[in-house]
Amino acid sequence: MDVIPPASPVFNKEMEDAAINALRKERFILGESVDKFEEEFACYVGTDFAVSVSSGTNALHLAQIAADLPIAGEVITVASSYIATANSILHANGTPIFCDINDEYTIDVKQIKSKISKRTKGIMPVHLYGHPADIDEIINIANKNNLFVIEDCAQSHGALYKGKMTGTFSDMGCFSFYSTKNMTVCGDGGMVTTNNEKLAEKIKLLRNHGQHPKDVHTIVGYTARLNTVNASAAR
Ligand SMILES: Cc1ncc(COP(=O)(O)O)c(C=O)c1O
Repeated sequence: MDVIPPASPVFNKEMEDAAINALRKERFILGESVDKFEEEFACYVGTDFAVSVSSGTNALHLAQIAADLPIAGEVITVASSYIATANSILHANGTPIFCDINDEYTIDVKQIKSKISKRTKGIMPVHLYGHPADIDEIINIANKNNLFVIEDCAQSHGALYKGKMTGTFSDMGCFSFYSTKNMTVCGDGGMVTTNNEKLAEKIKLLRNHGQHPKDVHTIVGYTARLNTVNASAAR
């Protein structure tokens, strides 16, 4: 019986050549291909900035730290997602508060207001299976209640909402390049998209132990960089 692979990752000669070239000529960590991939991804999505990280989970985690989520701060999201969505809130010391989903498998915006408490700090809609959540209404509720919005775009590369790409509407969009996603980097990888320069700079610090300039560490950060070879294969 023939097996039809539902999602075989692509690895072609062009990607192989790019990876070998990067391994031979660039720094393994934060090489030129990382900068170029970030520029190209920002251009593709339509944001001013894109900062690469080591996974989609780390993108969500660092985005919430950059958004100053306080300890036990509540983030409204959905349970109907991959576990990484809720885990990222716990990693950031927050509390996930779950809303039901609608027929499109995305957050039921009618429920959001009833979930807002004094501790609510943000909303994290998931554009699941490439279905964009009703982001206009989510932003509307967030603005009225002074909440951040972080889009989980791990499954929505290229998905459009009213003609614009997901990951462009909110404070930050968080993408995954894991092997089963719409776009991969031949290994783990992630990206944070934003139009806010300060947030982009903070994600850059957070992914690299708070280091800037070299050997000066201004905040507590993480080892969460995208490897140069993965960035080179993705371009
Ligand atoms: C909806 C969703 N959010 C977050 C993630 C986490 O991404 P990663 O596996 O790159 O950490 C995934 C995929 O694994 C996902 O499907």
